Amino acid sequence: MGHEVKENKTMPRGRAKYFKLSIMFLLLNIDNVVVPVRGFSLRSCRISYSTAICAKSRPSLKAVPKDIPPTVTGLDLSLNKITKIQGSDFKNLPLLTQLEIDRNMISQIDTGAFANLISLKNLNLNNNKLHELRADLFDGLGNLTELRIRSNGIKVVASTSFKSLTSLKLLDISFNRLNHLTNVHAIIQHLPNLKDLSIYGNGFTTFNSWELTNSSLGLTSLDVSQNPFGVFNITTDIFPDLTRFNIGGFHSKQHMKWEVRNTTFPSQVSTLDISGIELAFGHMKTFLESVNSSLISMRMNSMKYNLTALINVSCTIPTMSTLQLRRNKLHFIRSNLFKLSINVTELDLAESRIKNIHDEAFASMQGLKILTLSRNSLHSVPPATKYIPTLEELDLSKNNITTLGCQDFANMTKLKHLRLFNNFISALNDCVFKDLIQLQVLKLQGNHICKFGGAFKKPNLPNLTQLRLNGNGLTTIQSEAFNGLQSLQMLSLHENKIKNLEDGCFIGLTDLTDLQLQSNNINQSVIRQEVFNHLTNLRRLDLRTNHIRYNYSSAMPNPPFSKLSHLQILAIPGQHRRGKSLLPSNLLQGLTNLLVFNTRNTQLLSLSKDMFNHTPQLQILDISSNDIVDLSPELFFPIQNLKSLYISRISLRSLDFLKDAGLTKLESMQARKNAFSVLSEDEMDPLKALVYLDLLGNSFTCDCDNAWFINWTENSNKTQVFDAYNFECNYPPDLKGMKLLDFDIRFCKVSTDFICFVSTTCMVLLFMVVSFTYHFLRWQLTYAYYYFLALLFDSKNQNKQAANLYDAFISYNTHDEPWVIQELLPKLEGEQGWRLCLHHRDFEPGKPIIENITDAIYASRKTICVTVEDTSRVSGAPERSRWPAFVSSMSGRTC
Ligand SMILES: *[C@@H]1O[C@H](CO)[C@@H](O)[C@H](O)[C@H]1NC(C)=O
Ligand SMILES: *[C@@H]1O[C@H](CO)[C@@H](O)[C@H](O)[C@H]1NC(C)=O
Ligand SMILES: *[C@@H]1O[C@H](CO)[C@@H](O)[C@H](O)[C@H]1NC(C)=O
Ligand SMILES: *[C@@H]1O[C@H](CO)[C@@H](O)[C@H](O)[C@H]1NC(C)=O
Ligand SMILES: *[C@@H]1O[C@H](CO)[C@@H](O)[C@H](O)[C@H]1NC(C)=O
Repeated sequence: MGHEVKENKTMPRGRAKYFKLSIMFLLLNIDNVVVPVRGFSLRSCRISYSTAICAKSRPSLKAVPKDIPPTVTGLDLSLNKITKIQGSDFKNLPLLTQLEIDRNMISQIDTGAFANLISLKNLNLNNNKLHELRADLFDGLGNLTELRIRSNGIKVVASTSFKSLTSLKLLDISFNRLNHLTNVHAIIQHLPNLKDLSIYGNGFTTFNSWELTNSSLGLTSLDVSQNPFGVFNITTDIFPDLTRFNIGGFHSKQHMKWEVRNTTFPSQVSTLDISGIELAFGHMKTFLESVNSSLISMRMNSMKYNLTALINVSCTIPTMSTLQLRRNKLHFIRSNLFKLSINVTELDLAESRIKNIHDEAFASMQGLKILTLSRNSLHSVPPATKYIPTLEELDLSKNNITTLGCQDFANMTKLKHLRLFNNFISALNDCVFKDLIQLQVLKLQGNHICKFGGAFKKPNLPNLTQLRLNGNGLTTIQSEAFNGLQSLQMLSLHENKIKNLEDGCFIGLTDLTDLQLQSNNINQSVIRQEVFNHLTNLRRLDLRTNHIRYNYSSAMPNPPFSKLSHLQILAIPGQHRRGKSLLPSNLLQGLTNLLVFNTRNTQLLSLSKDMFNHTPQLQILDISSNDIVDLSPELFFPIQNLKSLYISRISLRSLDFLKDAGLTKLESMQARKNAFSVLSEDEMDPLKALVYLDLLGNSFTCDCDNAWFINWTENSNKTQVFDAYNFECNYPPDLKGMKLLDFDIRFCKVSTDFICFVSTTCMVLLFMVVSFTYHFLRWQLTYAYYYFLALLFDSKNQNKQAANLYDAFISYNTHDEPWVIQELLPKLEGEQGWRLCLHHRDFEPGKPIIENITDAIYASRKTICVTVEDTSRVSGAPERSRWPAFVSSMSGRTC
């Protein structure tokens, strides 16, 4: 399993490094440097706003991860392959309020698995494989308010399974295999606070109100749709507070037994959904009678029978004002379809294959405010809409409309929202919007508009705040093109083919705050001061994916945004043009309130260190996907408020710049796929506020240089290092492919104790060796000392080669002097005729003794050493016995 790592610990290489590190550790301990920076990483999840997100993990999770910190309030485990929830999985998450485990393969939940989740409010177990809900399953969830267990295949529910859920407000147990309403009764009788119950798509065949009587009086929303009801009986008063009731989508083969007797039920229902119901009209009519005084909204989507009659009868209910009739195959709307719908204010006819509408089809709806005709097959704006003087919202999106006439919206003086997106409109007439004096939102995106002439020039649309023209075929924005839109706040022109912005093209847009120009053919010469200087209120300017490429090594003459002092967000990333670029150092001049600057993927080679001198408020900087290679700390000096930094894919070789950049407020940093392989404490330490670090796709050096980083990543609790357990080693070669966090750093952290132990041991041993040597080898040592000195002087005097003044040099001890004078001297000088060198007679006074000795040796052909045997000295005068000893030594120059 990928989660049970740590077994494959590998011994580190390069012992010298440990030594270096040990010394560093020693020094650190001595100086008492305690570093407060902390970090952590989760194996399969990341934390965002105190929610642990483990959804859609790769590889898929097979069990609940064990390393979720106890501080999280949300946990998302959806879209994995968890099969079982164990008793200990959620033991230590006392603050968790939201738990999502939907779309897994859970078939088993251990007893008490949720018992410690005392704060849990929402639990989502949708789309799993639970077949049975045991009695103790939800024990401990006393604060739970929402429970979703849709699409599981639940057949069996123990009568006490829900007894702990005393706070539950919403229960969705739809698309399971429950088939007796008594099951539902067993469930909901324990839920005094339940308001919203969904049991659609089960196998219920009977609905008898007495089976549910007094089990949940407070229910306000009930969805029992898509069940194969054969019997539907409401004969007792139930659900006095019910406001939303969905009984649509019965797919009963047999003829249904339907009995709704005159009861007070359901006197409060305001929204009724009978979509797809197959029921005799008479039955439906009696049912509608019982909601006569409360019904406001009626949904009759995908109806097979009786639509006209049902519309008519429901429209006799005086309170009924909203009619939703989606996915009905209407094709042509006759003049009388809505003749009784005089109180309807909101009509939704989406997805109904409508091609034609009779001119007077809506004439009786004198109060209609919202009309939705989207996703139909209309070829033009239907004249029928003109006869609705009260219309405020008209949705004609996703039809086949090709042209707009001058009369299409004539007299619609109350219209506020007009949706014409995703049609085939190619041009706009100057007169087309002339009467829409109240219009606020105009959506024209996804058409084929190449020109809009003077449609927005005249002050026809004085209240328009939002205009969407994206996804059309515009190439040029003419001068004063939007001059009539004095209230416009948002203008989207992205995904056109705009190449040319004429001088003054945004004149008059003094209220504009949001301008979207991304994905056009705009190049750097189009970005002129004259184009933007009228947009004095602009907050966001998006110029992504155009053809802008600057190549300045210093400042430019007229910086284009210098009048946009309110601009907060500027994006110029992702330019198509090939070749390297350099931004002018004063490009951002005037942007004193800029908060976000994005210049991702613009083939930048470097950034001038003055780049941000004009933007002291900058909080988010994205320079990812460029060829910058090196960042200097000076670049960041003017922007000390920076909170997020994106420096992915810029071939950075190290994060060295962080040491001096002073980014103490930086909260998150993304530095994916760069070329650095070691992170050090001095780089991370200045980032006092860092809580999120994303280094995905870098390759690391797995040796003790990264020991600090590995330890920091694993053990600290402030900075989250995203996906650290998947970081891989690239160096040294024999560890290539190993996970960084599997690298064993224990050998890097040699402790002080160990060093003390080693040094003490060495000293004791040395002392012992010296003592032993002194005791047993004293004489040999003295001998060796002199031998050594002699060698030294030998080499020094090699060239002197003085003539031999003496036949022999006598080396003797003072104790032996009488013997040498009285016996040796007469014998050798007198009898043999040798000339001897004796120190008391022949040494030069004042000359150092060592030099005297060596000179004497060099001046003699032989050296005679007179040694004394202890026994002889003790006994007094054993002189004669000495002769063989010195004669035998007369073989070379030295003794
Ligand atoms: C509900 O949550 C609060 C804290 O949020 C806790 O004190 C209380 O004990 C919980 N109630 C139950 C029934 O678990
Ligand atoms: C409803 O409540 C009454 C008394 O209030 C009780 O006699 C009856 O059994 C209850 N019905 C159900 C289905 O629980
Ligand atoms: C609702 O009540 C009104 C009278 O208030 C009546 O005219 C109408 O027919 C009733 N509609 C239904 C569906 O019962
Ligand atoms: C608009 O209203 C005026 C008078 O209110 C009327 O004369 C004119 O015919 C109407 N135009 C259309 C197209 O309905
Ligand atoms: C985080 O680390 C700090 C410093 O060691 C410690 O005081 C604090 O209790 C830790 N917090 C958690 C939630 O572990």
